[in-house]
Amino acid sequence: MITKYSSQPSEALQNTSKKTAITNSLWADLKGKGKTSRLMEAEMISGQAEGQLLQILLKLSGGKHVLDIGTFTGYSSLAMAEVLPEDGTVVTLEREKEAAEIAKSNWSLSPHSFKIESRVGEAHDLLEQLASERKSFDLVFLDIDKPGYFALYQMLMDTNLLKVESLLVVDNVMYKGEELSGKDLSLNGLGAQALNQGLLDDHRVHQVMLPLRDGVTLVYRQC
Ligand SMILES: C[S@@+](CC[C@H](N)C(=O)[O-])C[C@H]1O[C@@H](n2cnc3c(N)ncnc32)[C@H](O)[C@@H]1O
Repeated sequence: MITKYSSQPSEALQNTSKKTAITNSLWADLKGKGKTSRLMEAEMISGQAEGQLLQILLKLSGGKHVLDIGTFTGYSSLAMAEVLPEDGTVVTLEREKEAAEIAKSNWSLSPHSFKIESRVGEAHDLLEQLASERKSFDLVFLDIDKPGYFALYQMLMDTNLLKVESLLVVDNVMYKGEELSGKDLSLNGLGAQALNQGLLDDHRVHQVMLPLRDGVTLVYRQC
C-alpha cells in the first residue's frame, strides 16, 4: 500500500531501483575480486517511500544544501537533488569507489545530476574535510554502517556541518527490529541503539522515530 499510494518516483529513480535490484551477483563478484571492502546488497537501497519522505521534508524546509552520507547506487541523493532549486547542492559520501561509479551512471539519466557532488572515502575523513572547508548543510541524511552512527552524529553537531534549525534524517534506527525482538544486538543494532540513546540525552535536538521500513528518525537541531 505504501508503494501504491505514495507519489510515484521519476523515471530516473525507477531506473535506479530496477538496476539496483539485480546487483547482488555483481556485488558478490566485486567483493570476491577485492574491489569492495564489504559485501554490498541490493536491499541497501532506500527506495520510493524514503525518497518521497526526503523530498517532502526538503520542500517543507526550503533547504538548499544537502549532505547524503552513504551514496550506494545513488537513490537518496538523486531523490533530494530533484526537488532542490537550480542553485541547490547535494554532497554525497561513499566508501566504495565501485558504488560511487554506479551511482554516477544512474544520475546521468537525470536533468538534476549537475546538483550532485560525489566524494569517495571513509565518512569520518570526508566529514573532516567538509568541516575544514567550512561547509554546513540544511538537511543531512545518514545511512551508512551503524557502528559509526553516534560518532558521526557528534561530529555533525560539533563541526556545525548540521546547522542550527536544520534537519538530520537517520535511517535504520530500529535496525532489523533487533531491540524489539529481545535478542542480542548485532554491532549494527548496538550502533543504532547508541545513537537513539544519545539523541534522547541531547537537549540540543528534538526528534521523532517513525516506523517506516526499519525505522527513520527525524532530528531537528534546535540549538
Ligand atoms: C544503506 S547504503 C546507502 C543507501 C543510499 N542512501 C540509498 O538511498 O540507496 C549504505 C552505503 O554507505 C556506504 N558506507 C557504509 N559505511 C560507510 C562509511 N563508514 N563511510 C563511507 N561510506 C560508507 C556503503 O558502502 C553503502 O554504499
